[in-house]
Amino acid sequence: MSDLIIQKAAEILRKNDLGTYTVPTHGLYPFQWNWDSCLTALGQAYIDEKRAWIEIDTLLAHQWEDGMVPHIIFHKEDDGYFPGPEIWGTNRPTPTSGITQPPVAGFAVQRLFERASDVQNAEAKARHLLPKIHKWHKWFYQNRDPENVGLAAIIHPWETGRDNSIDWDAPFENVPTDGVVPFQRRDVQHANPEHRPTEAQYQRYIWLVQHFRALGWDNTKLHEASPFKIVDPGFNAILLRSIRAIADLAQTLGETEIARESTAMLDRGIGALETLWSEKHGQYLCFDRNSGKAIEKRSIGGLIALFAPIPAPRAAALAQTITALSERTNFLVASHDPMDAEFDAKRYWRGPVWLIVNYMIADGLINAGNTALAARIEADSLRLIEESGFAEYYDPFSGEPCGGEQFTWTAAMVIEFLSKEKDVA
Ligand code: GLC
Repeated sequence: MSDLIIQKAAEILRKNDLGTYTVPTHGLYPFQWNWDSCLTALGQAYIDEKRAWIEIDTLLAHQWEDGMVPHIIFHKEDDGYFPGPEIWGTNRPTPTSGITQPPVAGFAVQRLFERASDVQNAEAKARHLLPKIHKWHKWFYQNRDPENVGLAAIIHPWETGRDNSIDWDAPFENVPTDGVVPFQRRDVQHANPEHRPTEAQYQRYIWLVQHFRALGWDNTKLHEASPFKIVDPGFNAILLRSIRAIADLAQTLGETEIARESTAMLDRGIGALETLWSEKHGQYLCFDRNSGKAIEKRSIGGLIALFAPIPAPRAAALAQTITALSERTNFLVASHDPMDAEFDAKRYWRGPVWLIVNYMIADGLINAGNTALAARIEADSLRLIEESGFAEYYDPFSGEPCGGEQFTWTAAMVIEFLSKEKDVA
């Protein structure tokens, strides 16, 4: 059974592979996405190791001079997606968006390196990527943490990868919509509009893009000028996990300066993450830098923190929170707690289960020694695939497939889950 599923997943990776990068799915997302590519490489590595390194290499080849790695690379024209390069107006040789995404590259590179059978290629690639990823990590603290608290903020919901999370509802009231040029969304032509963000949210997404564009995409100005500045614990946890990966890798490769700087960033970041802990909710919460208040919503943003090397009591409390959540849904891990009034089982990041999130949470639980809960999350993920195919996301009650089909990173995560099982067996 598992061989057949791996075969199907491999087929999806091949179908969405455009040679040097992989699209998340044809139609809905016809370009290269940042964290999709990094997580995709993990699955690709089981099929073709060289190809997996190329996926990350291609992404980092489009890093900006200041260190930012954009969230979309528009390798070629395709009018099936909005907002395209003409809306971003970033003036890059190959057009890119102007914002970033969760920096999972460092983690992915370490994993590829550790599992490599072609050690020589892996070392050459890791040496090439190491300083670039390190520069990106430093970029976060230089540009998104002006008061030096040790936490990076995101300035657009798309940066967290959790586009329409309930977490952004209150802070979004601070984002105007006047002056937004009329536009036509393309996502709702490829996927069920009931599963996608609302019109009102799109107006605000685009207002922010226009606002940053008017500031020339100058990252030294954007944080200060943004009416939307959120510290997301999940985002910071991914950053910290990648920083630790780069610290370890740098140590192994004798890059002592990178190792030293990374360790310092990691220590500070882990300490700062603690300020986002909520005893009341048994998880970390997002923090709104504009209002100066915590966002009292129970989302996976606070659970993905498990992916970082957090203190053992925090990991144990998060495991309890996830166990409680499992009693309220049929499939772990819902992107929001169904007890929230704004919960929506089918609408994108407001309730559905995402396999990449399951992967990061399960990985964190394994590191924290809770293999039983990790196994449960992995089993739920595989049950979703068997019942509903390789969808973009799933209803946490019915398991119904939602969003796009034949989804690359979903397929990659399945290969990860199943191949890991085989390694152990
Ligand atoms: C959506 C998701 C984002 C992902 C992208 C491509 O925008 O919210 O996390 O990277 O699609 O799959």
